[in-house]
Amino acid sequence: MGAARIDAVRATERILEFDLSVELNHGIVVSNLAYAVASEMGLEESVCYELAIAGMLHDIGKLKLTGYIDGREQDPLLIEELKYVRMHSTLGYEELKGQGYSDFVLESILYHHENYDGSGYPSNLAGEEIPLGARILRVCDVFAALSSDRPYRSAFDIHTVMELMIDEIKNFDMEIFLAFQRVIHNTRIAGGPNGVKEKTGNRYEGHFTKGDGNP
Ligand SMILES: [Fe+2]
Repeated sequence: MGAARIDAVRATERILEFDLSVELNHGIVVSNLAYAVASEMGLEESVCYELAIAGMLHDIGKLKLTGYIDGREQDPLLIEELKYVRMHSTLGYEELKGQGYSDFVLESILYHHENYDGSGYPSNLAGEEIPLGARILRVCDVFAALSSDRPYRSAFDIHTVMELMIDEIKNFDMEIFLAFQRVIHNTRIAGGPNGVKEKTGNRYEGHFTKGDGNP
């Protein structure tokens, strides 16, 4: 089996192992981190709040994606069409459009996999062509994914996460990345020695669990 085929099968296994609780937790972590980064950047409270909403909903298109795969797991040609995975940001946008969300929230979700150097999807936008909210979500999403356990690997430690992100710095808006680094640094100082995993279970989840009203 070729490397590309093996990658395709592994990616499909990840889809089939779709776990709503994992996805929800990821959304909460991204939501609270995005709120904190936006706040660190000095953005208005209303914008921070919109980012919290976008962070919670950014991967909701994956729910639709499972429908495309479901029942067709045996079709190798379909399985190898990894572009289906790449449809989730557009599917999420289409799902939420017309439901009262602001353009800021919708565009943040649609473009949350765009990379700053233009190598992302769905539209290969680059630099400030990418809406601000999407650029913030991109950083927070990558951090949340790398610092969490996944079905196919354990969470990376904080130092490895930061090294991996710096290796891929071309993907990120530098101003946002620096604000993100300050948030992580300040959180680690405020937290215990176990760093990120503890933080993602406390501070970053706190925004939605303070009891002062859920979005
Ligand atoms: Fe995503």
